[in-house]
This record gives sequence, structure tokens and C-alpha cells, in this order.
Amino acid sequence: MFSKRTKGVIGILVAEGRAPVPFAEPGYCRKLCQIGSSRGMTVYVFCPSFLRPGSESVPGYSYENGGWHHKLFPPPDVIYDRCFTHDRRQQQRKRQALSRLSEQHPFVYLTRGLTGKWQVYQALRKFPEFEPHLPETARYEGPEHLAVWLRQHGGEAFLKPEHGTHGKRTLHVKRSELHGGLKITGRDPRNGILHKQFSDSEEGLDWIHRFTSGRSFLIQPFLELSTAKKEPFDIRVLVQKNDTGAWEITGTAARVGARNALTSNLHGGGTAHRALPVLIRELGMPGAKAALASIRDLALRIPPALESHFGRLAELGIDFGIDRKVGRIWVLEVNSKPGRSSFFRIGDRRSARKSVENPILYARYLLLSKP
Ligand SMILES: Nc1ncnc2c1ncn2[C@@H]1O[C@H](COP(=O)(O)OP(=O)(O)O)[C@@H](O)[C@H]1O
Ligand SMILES: [Mg+2]
Repeated sequence: MFSKRTKGVIGILVAEGRAPVPFAEPGYCRKLCQIGSSRGMTVYVFCPSFLRPGSESVPGYSYENGGWHHKLFPPPDVIYDRCFTHDRRQQQRKRQALSRLSEQHPFVYLTRGLTGKWQVYQALRKFPEFEPHLPETARYEGPEHLAVWLRQHGGEAFLKPEHGTHGKRTLHVKRSELHGGLKITGRDPRNGILHKQFSDSEEGLDWIHRFTSGRSFLIQPFLELSTAKKEPFDIRVLVQKNDTGAWEITGTAARVGARNALTSNLHGGGTAHRALPVLIRELGMPGAKAALASIRDLALRIPPALESHFGRLAELGIDFGIDRKVGRIWVLEVNSKPGRSSFFRIGDRRSARKSVENPILYARYLLLSKP
């Protein structure tokens, strides 16, 4: 039989993975297990496909004595879901497996997954306070739609997939002033940098349409989000609920991409830095302090606003862009499955530690405050 129920059972739900362990994010899961066991909680990792209909126990993995152990566990009280997929079939399979699990033992979700950039944009737009920080956004409808957009927006646009990550498949489209063609700079599906030039703009628009290959894309104005050296940069803020269930800023980091590389994502070759020194270099001391204060203020107001729409959330990674020339802060993206690597990379040990502790401490808070 499975191990005895401790002060609370947390199941970390991740996607299936490949050897050496059959699940995703083993490094992060290991840290969560270690923190959980130091607090007297049972923390284990499982994937949707591990669940067996009718079985009272959950096959999963826990990290103990320096290694992963495959065991049977009691069903979880709290599920920390890191397994968000936009594949409908997978979504349905996951939903069915979890609904069977909840019939055996009720559980709560630590946090909900946000359903994509368009839904988040729509939710935030309902709050007038965020309006000045949200880039105008439209859903790409086809070549003619993009042509109209370009005409109305000074011949420039930024395209990104609604369900994209890591800056992949992003495009900067610019109408050439000389001969009316299109110049495209972007990131391909594997995050490689791409350049295309079309003397015939219709050919360019057709190429873009093929590039979208049936995926849903968003169009935004191309924002000036570069450093003085023309490197794209943004500020990533991790906001999490803590051991008292209150939202707090765990850490901030600047991410800087290569010159003319379009995106600043770490997965696309960007580098992580401490936020304040980068902001001071780019905006001067008063500008940096004002930008950081505004970013922190937004980062604390956005989570409750989204919770009122999507239900309980526990952590968000928010990407802020800064237009240096006009000193404007833009909300670029809200991630409901945020990474933590920037804090480890910049040596911000306190934020790195807290970023892993908070999900466990908030789960414990949920368990203790359960009626
Ligand atoms: N409207 C825009 N104009 C210019 N650059 C942008 C714009 N939106 C995003 N970017 C750049 O592209 C990167 C990726 O965009 P983001 O919306 O965060 O999607 P992803 O989910 O791929 O990270 C951002 O970090 C930023 O560097
Ligand atoms: Mg992003």
C-alpha cells in the first residue's frame, strides 16, 4: 500500500517526459519535493497518463535520499498543475483522468492555467487602469487584414502566436519605404532568426500567411523595446502567493536579447541581468526608479484582476516592455507557468529560493485554511 498521509499531500502534475525520468521539469520538481519534505508534507510528481481508472492510489515519483523513487501515493489534496496543453485531445484526456481522481478524493488546484494571450488581453482590457499599458491587439484574420493593419499603423506590425512561448514564431513586418515591398524579421519555429525581403508586398503577405500555418496569431504595433544599443529587452516579474495567501513580488530580472534579434527571451538567446542596473543604464536613476515602481505596482494589481476572471491563481510571470524614448511601460505577456531560471542565472539566491518555496507554502496555507 502507499505511504501514510502526512500534513498534506501535494501532487505536481507535469507533462510526460523522456529518460532519465519519464516526466518534464525534473530539476524544478526535485526542489519542490525537497522543500515539501522539509515541511513535513508529501510531495510527488505525476503525469495524466499515470492515473489508472478505479485505482485508489496514484503512481508517481518522489525525490528522496538523492534520487527519484517510483511509488504509489495517496491521492493529492492539492494539485500543482504545470501541465498546460493547447492540444484539445490531450486536454480532454487530462480532464477526464482528473475528474475520476476527484471522485475518489476531492482536491483543489493550486493555480489555474491562463488560456492564451488573447483571453488574457481581453480580461485585462476590462480594467481601465491597465488600458495605457496594453498594446493595441487584434487577432490575425488573413493577408488582407494585415494589409489594412499596416496601412493604419505606419507600415509596421508585430505578430505573435496566441499560444506561443519562448519568443518562437514572432515576426516584425515592415513596409519598405523605397519600393513598397515588405521586410520581415522574425523567429522561426525553432527560435532561429529569420530575415525575408519581398519586393512584392502581396508575396510577402502570402508568405506570412503560410508561416502562420493555421495557428491563431495576434497583431500588435511594433513597439520600441530596445536598449540604446538596439538590443531588445524586457523586465520579467515573478509574482506569487506566499505562506499567508497574499500576492508578493518574488523577484524581477531584465532580459536582454542580441542586437536586432527581435526578442529577449532566454530560450531565444537572451541573457538575464539584475533589473535595476539595466534600467539605470537605459533610463538614468530617476527614470529607472519610476519605471520599476510602475512595474511593481502593475505586477501586484494584475494578479487579482485576472483571478476575478479566471479563478484562483498562485503565480504569474509578467513580461513588461519599456519604450525608453517615451518612458512608457507595456504589459507584453502574462505567463501562468512561469520559469525561474532568470533568478538562478543572475545569482539572486533569495528570489530563486523563494520562487520554489512559495508554491509549497501557499499549498500548505490552502490546506490549513480549508474548512
Ligand atoms: N508588440 C511588440 N513589439 C515589439 N516587440 C515585442 C512585442 N511583443 C513582444 N515583443 C518581444 O517579443 C518577446 C516575446 O513576446 P511575448 O509576448 O512575451 O511572447 P512569448 O510567449 O513568446 O514569450 C518579448 O519578450 C519582447 O522581447
Ligand atoms: Mg514572454
